[in-house]
Parts: sequence; C-alpha cells; structure tokens
Amino acid sequence: MQKNLPNRPHMVEIRQIEQETPLIKTLSFSWKEIQEKALPGQFVMVWIPKIDEIPLSLSETSPYPSITVKKVGTATEALHALKEGDHIGIRGPYGHSFSLKGTSPLIVGGGIGMAPLLFLIHRLQKSTKNLTVINGARTKAELLFLDKLQKSSNNGVKCIFATDDGSFGEKGLASHIAIQNLEKGNHDQVYVCGPEKMIYEIFLATESLQIPMQASLERLMKCGIGLCGQCCIDPLGYRVCIEGPVFNSEILRKLSDFGKHRRDFGGRKIQI
Ligand SMILES: Cc1cc2nc3c(=O)[nH]c(=O)nc-3n(C[C@H](O)[C@H](O)[C@H](O)COP(=O)(O)OP(=O)(O)OC[C@H]3O[C@@H](n4cnc5c(N)ncnc54)[C@H](O)[C@@H]3O)c2cc1C
Ligand code: FES
Repeated sequence: MQKNLPNRPHMVEIRQIEQETPLIKTLSFSWKEIQEKALPGQFVMVWIPKIDEIPLSLSETSPYPSITVKKVGTATEALHALKEGDHIGIRGPYGHSFSLKGTSPLIVGGGIGMAPLLFLIHRLQKSTKNLTVINGARTKAELLFLDKLQKSSNNGVKCIFATDDGSFGEKGLASHIAIQNLEKGNHDQVYVCGPEKMIYEIFLATESLQIPMQASLERLMKCGIGLCGQCCIDPLGYRVCIEGPVFNSEILRKLSDFGKHRRDFGGRKIQI
C-alpha cells in the first residue's frame, strides 16, 4: 500500500547499460511515470541497495528513462558494477527544470555536465531550428555523447566539440569557445552545466552581453526534497533540490556562493 508514495524509492529493473566513456555509463530503466512526467534538468534520487542514495540527473526519458553516471566514489562505483536485470530504487523526478526559451539558443556542457543537457537538446530540437551545442572535455575519449551528438548534427543541430588537449574538435576550454561564440551576438538564451568555475565564467560573459542564462548547479544532497538543508546556497537559502538545480540569471546574480563556495557533508563551507 505504501509503494506508490512519491518519496519512497520505486524499485526498477535496469533494462540497458551503455559504456559512454571509460568512466561514464548510461543506465536505462523502465518506469512509465518518470517517462511521462520528467522535464529536462530534473533529477532523481537513486538508491543502490545496501550502499547509498545519490542524486543523478535524467539524461533522457525515451525510449526509457536514463541516468548517465560518472564513477567518482562508492555509490557511483556500485552503480557501474550493476548488470542489466539488476534493480535500483528511484524517487523523483525532483527539482526545477530548464525553461525552453529562445529562438537561437546555445547549450554548453563540460564533462559529465552534458548528462542533463542531452535530454534538453532533444526537447529544444523540436521547437527551434537554430540550436548550437558546445561539448567540452579534457580529451576525445572523455567527450560524453560524442556519437549521439554527431547524429544530432545530421539532424540540424550545430555541434562544436572542444578538447583541452586538441585530440578532437577545437583545442581549448568549452567556456572560452562559448564566450567567443556569444560575442558574435547570435544567441538569445544560454544553457550551461558542468564544473562551476566554467559555469561562472560563462555567466559573467552573459551578464556583460545581457543574454539570459540558465545553469544547472550541484551541491551535496541528502534528502532531495527540501527538508535537510544540506544543499542550501547562500545568501538566500535557496535549496538546490527544490528551487534548483536549474537557476536563471536573475537568481544566479543574487547567489554570493555561486562560483565561490560549496558545503561539505559536515556543512562546512569550502572553496570551489
Ligand atoms: C542535482 C544533481 C544532479 C547530478 N547529476 C549527476 C549526473 O547526471 N551524473 C553524475 O555522474 N553525477 C551527477 N551528480 C553528482 C553525483 O550525485 C555524485 O557524483 C555522487 O553523489 C557521488 O557519489 P559517490 O558515493 O560515488 O562519491 P563519494 O565517494 O561520496 O564522493 C566523490 C565525489 O562526489 C561528490 N559527491 C558525493 N556525494 C554527492 C552528492 N550527494 N551530491 C553531489 N556531489 C556529491 C563529493 O564531493 C566528491 O567530490 C549530480 C549531483 C546533483 C546534486
Ligand atoms: S537535499 Fe535536503 S534540502 Fe536539499
């Protein structure tokens, strides 16, 4: 009787696993409710039995809801060890999604930050013909969704790849290439996800160029539903799990922690 409560994990079967890069896998599962309800930028809390529960963005909802996860520690390693047919617990979708805006949007993703942006690209593709995507990583091997984005390129999305070492696409940081593109004046909305330093650098450029931006931020999370306060950003006490993870320029402007500080699991502020 309690199994349908939204804040209890719903057990799902992993239908498909795809190795995206040496450290990143996409796990797809079937759950019709998520498939119908979720919006780009929203996340789910993923429970790995006997291990932990962690927040992960939805990287797609069709043909199945998917999470794309980078191996960085205990829980993500445990997710990487799972096989098709294994079960995980999912609750959500949670958080504030991206708003689909602009006639000529620019999407910028760095590393695992591309995860929520794939879902956004697929939605924006339906409403605009002038979509540009910049996907950056350190090396070609680490470029997330390279094949999928090359397919989108064939369907009219302009994709620019950037690698720090120049092994694929343009050589340089995605943020610098994004700023050069923005300065040409061809974009009326910017969407960003990736390392916060990168987001902040692009934000400063959009402010001086007066282009509205939406960014997905990350903070440590425990409950995912606005109760524990773990994910608050100063000074307004916005909770990344409720008011975020996607924030627009109007809010980003007011967040003194943005680009500068985050909290560890003990609540102590540490520099980004
Ligand atoms: C809204 C949101 C969406 C996210 N989406 C994705 C995604 O799509 N793909 C992906 O790979 N990762 C995503 N993350 C980050 C992911 O939650 C962490 O990488 C994961 O929790 C690490 O768990 P771990 O046990 O493997 O690592 P740990 O051993 O706990 O720590 C390894 C590193 O991960 C960081 N971390 C640990 N727990 C969290 C947490 N609860 N929230 C944020 N960072 C954490 C730590 O600061 C440390 O740097 C997202 C985080 C948030 C807040
Ligand atoms: S994670 Fe608990 S309030 Fe956001």
